[in-house]
Amino acid sequence: MMMSLTLPFLLTFLALSQAQSLSDDSLPPSSTVCIVGAGIGGSSVAHFLRKYSPESAPATDIRVFERNGVVGGRMATVTVAGESFEAGASILHPKNLHTVDYVKILNLKVNEPGGSDSLSLGIWDGNKFVFKTLTLSSNVPLINKLLKLPFVDTIVSFFNSARIFLRYGFSLFKMQNFVENTVERFLKYYEEPSSRPIFETVDEMLQWAGLYNLTSRTLQDELVDAGLSDLLINELVTVITRINYGQSVSMSGLGGAVSLAGSGAGLWSIQGGNWQMAAGLINQSDVALHLHEEIKSVADLGDFYELNSTKGNSYRCEVTVVATPLDELDIQFIPPISIPERKLQHTYTTFVRGLLNPEYFGLKAATKIPDLVGTIEDPSLPFSCIAVLKKHNEKESTYKLFSRQPMEDTLLDSIFSVRKETILINWAAYPHYHAPEVFAPFILDRRHLYYVNAFENAASTMETSAVAAENIARLILSRYFGKVSVNSSNLSATSQGEGSTHLDL
Ligand SMILES: Cc1cc2nc3c(=O)[nH]c(=O)nc-3n(C[C@H](O)[C@H](O)[C@H](O)COP(=O)(O)OP(=O)(O)OC[C@H]3O[C@@H](n4cnc5c(N)ncnc54)[C@H](O)[C@@H]3O)c2cc1C
Ligand SMILES: *[C@@H]1O[C@H](CO)[C@@H](O)[C@H](O)[C@H]1NC(C)=O
Ligand SMILES: *[C@@H]1O[C@H](CO)[C@@H](O)[C@H](O)[C@H]1NC(C)=O
Ligand SMILES: *[C@@H]1O[C@H](CO)[C@@H](O)[C@H](O)[C@H]1NC(C)=O
Ligand SMILES: *[C@@H]1O[C@H](CO)[C@@H](O)[C@H](O)[C@H]1NC(C)=O
Ligand SMILES: *[C@@H]1O[C@H](CO)[C@@H](O)[C@H](O)[C@H]1NC(C)=O
Repeated sequence: MMMSLTLPFLLTFLALSQAQSLSDDSLPPSSTVCIVGAGIGGSSVAHFLRKYSPESAPATDIRVFERNGVVGGRMATVTVAGESFEAGASILHPKNLHTVDYVKILNLKVNEPGGSDSLSLGIWDGNKFVFKTLTLSSNVPLINKLLKLPFVDTIVSFFNSARIFLRYGFSLFKMQNFVENTVERFLKYYEEPSSRPIFETVDEMLQWAGLYNLTSRTLQDELVDAGLSDLLINELVTVITRINYGQSVSMSGLGGAVSLAGSGAGLWSIQGGNWQMAAGLINQSDVALHLHEEIKSVADLGDFYELNSTKGNSYRCEVTVVATPLDELDIQFIPPISIPERKLQHTYTTFVRGLLNPEYFGLKAATKIPDLVGTIEDPSLPFSCIAVLKKHNEKESTYKLFSRQPMEDTLLDSIFSVRKETILINWAAYPHYHAPEVFAPFILDRRHLYYVNAFENAASTMETSAVAAENIARLILSRYFGKVSVNSSNLSATSQGEGSTHLDL
């Protein structure tokens, strides 16, 4: 008796309360999505959450927490001699379709790819240049334009060089094939959302595009199978992986392929700094941005997460997104989470305004030093590459160096004959790739704690962060916000004949 009275009442009550949220377009009331990190990953999650939420959706709050005073994360510029240069992520590929779209919707300007003019490349083995292209004289404005674009774009023009072909022969085409094949597979991630699954794991996401196998073998093994000569692998390919990821060809095949994709034509960057993508996305996505606020703990309190910050604030978040690598952070998770151990490759980026010392390279004049000095894999080499960013005059240029260890003053003094300004940045740059890769989950706790940078040991680029972020946004919308409609439809089925009409109220 009691039961038969209570049950219909309960159902009606539930149906009524569901109906309320249904009229809000099936979103639970007052839910907050909190995003930790305002790099391209975090800002892209905010962007895609807004983009894929129905127009009529009720206000979902999005909070973005950033421990720095600026957004952008590993997209950042430095100023040397009054001019600004990319200090972290520099180049984008023409088929990076999300970032291409960001440029349009944010109304940003791009640095167009360089012209056909060649700049010189030298491959340094610690004692001599094992290979050098010719230095072609270019007029200074053009050089400046070309050199504004970072390293690998410089290499592009080398492919037209007869010298390169003479040294590496048809292996170059095999390399190009390998890269194009990988880029082609990656394009599947831009297919219409209606025909593209939402991925709960990185493994699944890579399998679907046919990219997973590339993470289970080294770049070296992949390239040998693709028929590249040892000479090409040990020289030019190594030069490129050392520039782009500070690593050798024993990195994973996928990371390596992405790195080599920098050798295609048409690389570009954002005028004034790539960080503006994050700034623009955050500006356009109606988020509360908390700068200088570092998240120290994330506690699952059942219905929501409580995020505590170094400012002593506590935030209630129904959904939490970690958009930064966790490997070197000590965010306290309650209950604790467990992810596979991953080491980050540190890249020390040193900017120097001055002049390279020809003697260090066994040369007679600084003008004989190639514009881009790449290096082979040799533990005794103190740097990965040195590139001219801008030639101010005969006696002064601005250079950018990458190294795995910090550049000591004494070492810099031997490499440079003049050094007027030096800026050193220590980046926890990207994962140290190996094969086979093991991936952390996108969903850290089987609830609503998400991890964008689980994708980073597939490859670390601005675009791959955006691609991972898009998937995370779709996961959130389907797993959290999609839930209510699932429950509602079950309710309406259960309550048929009794309280079904209430659903339409
Ligand atoms: C030297 C270098 C060169 C590179 N070159 C290229 C390139 O040419 N092309 C390319 O596409 N990619 C390049 N990359 C890789 C690229 O920078 C990254 O893949 C990409 O920027 C990662 O973006 P993200 O948003 O995932 O992470 P991040 O940019 O690292 O953003 C994470 C943010 O979270 C913040 N944060 C961390 N912990 C907390 C906390 N507890 N609370 C609040 N905030 C927190 C950080 O301050 C940071 O701003 C390069 C990277 C480096 C270092
Ligand atoms: C990946 O490797 C497995 C086992 O070696 C193979 O069966 C499969 O066809 C490969 N997939 C792709 C996309 O190459
Ligand atoms: C933010 O967006 C508005 C328009 O939506 C624009 O006028 C403004 O310049 C943007 N600000 C930044 C810093 O991008
Ligand atoms: C977070 O802050 C709240 C309020 O100050 C506090 O009660 C709680 O214990 C804190 N949680 C953690 C994990 O420190
Ligand atoms: C939906 O159903 C699940 C159980 O499957 C439950 O945990 C959740 O609280 C329900 N959500 C709502 C809004 O009723
Ligand atoms: C809704 O119904 C489907 C099948 O009809 C079931 O699989 C699912 O678990 C139900 N969900 C909830 C939240 O009850």
